[in-house]
Amino acid sequence: MTTLTVAGLDAGYRDFQALFGVSLDLAEGETVALIGANGAGKSTLLMTIAGALRPWRGRITLDGLDIAGLPDHHRARLGIAIVPEGRRLFPSLTAEENILVPTTGRGGPWSLDALYDLFPMVAARRSHRAGLLSGGEQQAVAIARALAANPRVLLMDEVSLGLAPAVVDGFYRLLPRIQQSGVCILLVEQDIDRALAASDRALCLLEGRVVMAGDSAGLDRDRLISAYFGAPSAPRSSATKTGPAPVPPDKPVPPGKPVPPGKRVPPARPVPPADPEVPR
Ligand SMILES: Nc1ncnc2c1ncn2[C@@H]1O[C@H](COP(=O)(O)OP(=O)(O)O)[C@@H](O)[C@H]1O
Ligand SMILES: [Mg+2]
Repeated sequence: MTTLTVAGLDAGYRDFQALFGVSLDLAEGETVALIGANGAGKSTLLMTIAGALRPWRGRITLDGLDIAGLPDHHRARLGIAIVPEGRRLFPSLTAEENILVPTTGRGGPWSLDALYDLFPMVAARRSHRAGLLSGGEQQAVAIARALAANPRVLLMDEVSLGLAPAVVDGFYRLLPRIQQSGVCILLVEQDIDRALAASDRALCLLEGRVVMAGDSAGLDRDRLISAYFGAPSAPRSSATKTGPAPVPPDKPVPPGKPVPPGKRVPPARPVPPADPEVPR
């Protein structure tokens, strides 16, 4: 059964259009990976679904109810939760206070005890100020905060960003427990192989448009990488079939090239230091 449907979505910032006719659906319990270069519009799509941005055109329905015109807190009460890029915790509140911030009144499996069972590292730091936690601990608090709302739809925006690979491995080992709770997940992840391994289906966004979609297990990885870069389909090569998973770099802007007005420029992405801590 379809839980979330996005149809013909246009969205952007003032007069800058970032999304063009984006459509997708999420079935109950399904995880869909959203792949795309820096600036492709992934965060814009998640924020528009969550209600932080109003769509310019198009429909967003949750369980058949049109929610496109509803404010974010109303959407949260209906079961949409976001783990935003950069976590956005309240640094002076404790870990537990951050987790208890969303007061959606929704019941479900994610009690505080269940969240502490999922993230023992957060339980151990529950009374510590969020601003003093490590990057990995802060990310765990951000995920716990979203789950505390007992969402129907969980939007996860680059939870791996800036964390050490071992910390990221820890999160991905926990993901099946979150998936088994029945929530559907829209997962933004820069690492294509990780994204495909963790999802049922995948979508590739290029400059605000869906340019490829399919079952994660059956997607042609070469075509996906070409779609990611906006390049014509690359010939199949055994190296890319069997070699290590590439994490495509952000699309480069040619140095010194003038940028015409209105032309999109991928924002420079700061790379925070890797966090050495591993979830326990
Ligand atoms: N607050 C903003 N104001 C204006 N343009 C923005 C803003 N946030 C993002 N953009 C632009 O929208 C486009 C999509 O950005 P974003 O959704 O953040 O991409 P992604 O998450 O895929 O990296 C980019 O061209 C970006 O520069
Ligand atoms: Mg983003």
